[in-house]
Amino acid sequence: MDDGIRTVLALIASPRTLGNCETFAKEVSRNVPEGHRLRLVRLTSLKIGRCRACYGCVVGNRCPVDDDMAFLLDEIANADAFIVASPVYYLGANASIKAVLDRGFLFFDILRKTHGKPAVLLNFYGMPGRIGAAPQMLETLAAFLGLSVRANLSIKAALPGEALMNKANAARAARLGKTLFSPGKEKRAGGCPFCGCEIVRVVPKGFVCTVCHGSFTMGPQGRFVKGKEGGILGSPEHMLLHREWLRGMKERFKEKKREIMKTIIPYKDDGEWVEPPR
Ligand SMILES: Cc1cc2nc3c(=O)[nH]c(=O)nc-3n(C[C@H](O)[C@H](O)[C@H](O)COP(=O)(O)O)c2cc1C
Repeated sequence: MDDGIRTVLALIASPRTLGNCETFAKEVSRNVPEGHRLRLVRLTSLKIGRCRACYGCVVGNRCPVDDDMAFLLDEIANADAFIVASPVYYLGANASIKAVLDRGFLFFDILRKTHGKPAVLLNFYGMPGRIGAAPQMLETLAAFLGLSVRANLSIKAALPGEALMNKANAARAARLGKTLFSPGKEKRAGGCPFCGCEIVRVVPKGFVCTVCHGSFTMGPQGRFVKGKEGGILGSPEHMLLHREWLRGMKERFKEKKREIMKTIIPYKDDGEWVEPPR
């Protein structure tokens, strides 16, 4: 749609009609002062197949998986801002988020359109503190689409709509709506000093962010001190270098095919594959 009206795309990773993800995303949209249309995609209703690791798309071939991914990418490419909302399921985001992320080689084709567009990430969880790795999973999706994350909030709410029964949460939705298209980010408490992600790996010399892979240490006042950037995020040109690397991998596979086959074929008939009866 090229009618000059901005599009806010809400990616709803919950199967619940009028659940917390849906109602809160709509409340954020109601508070966006700029004129816009809200489009919603229920990720859990889409048919999203599995990546076949053929690497075809990285060399410009059509993805062989026949599903709703092309539809979804088209919606994403044409949006101006994003609200990504997922319930926490078993200490992670809903599996539909990972299903889309696993098809992330296809993001390269739309990266120049998505890069830098604003996004708010929302995690809804029912039990005190049990958010697990969910915020990191939404950060990862946003990172590989090159989105500019305005805020990544975890909101406690178990029953449908419970998030908005709480006045403080309704105020958060209002604030998010107002900041979605504004240049500044919401201030994030702690987290990776490069990208804000809260989940880090502890390594002998400090920490490595699990999203951007930036390394950092803890300074004397308990503040994080930046070390080296991780090299994963950056400009679209920089991020597209990864596609070049993947293309190189395809070439290396061809070059080493003989040696690869010699290594793997002897394992071909080991064990017995079990499958459900058809
Ligand atoms: C299968 C399943 C797993 C869940 N796992 C968690 C969990 O690990 N931690 C948690 O705090 N809440 C968990 N919940 C609760 C949901 O995150 C919570 O109800 C959320 O508000 C649902 O959002 P929705 O209304 O948009 O679907 C789980 C719910 C379901 C159905």
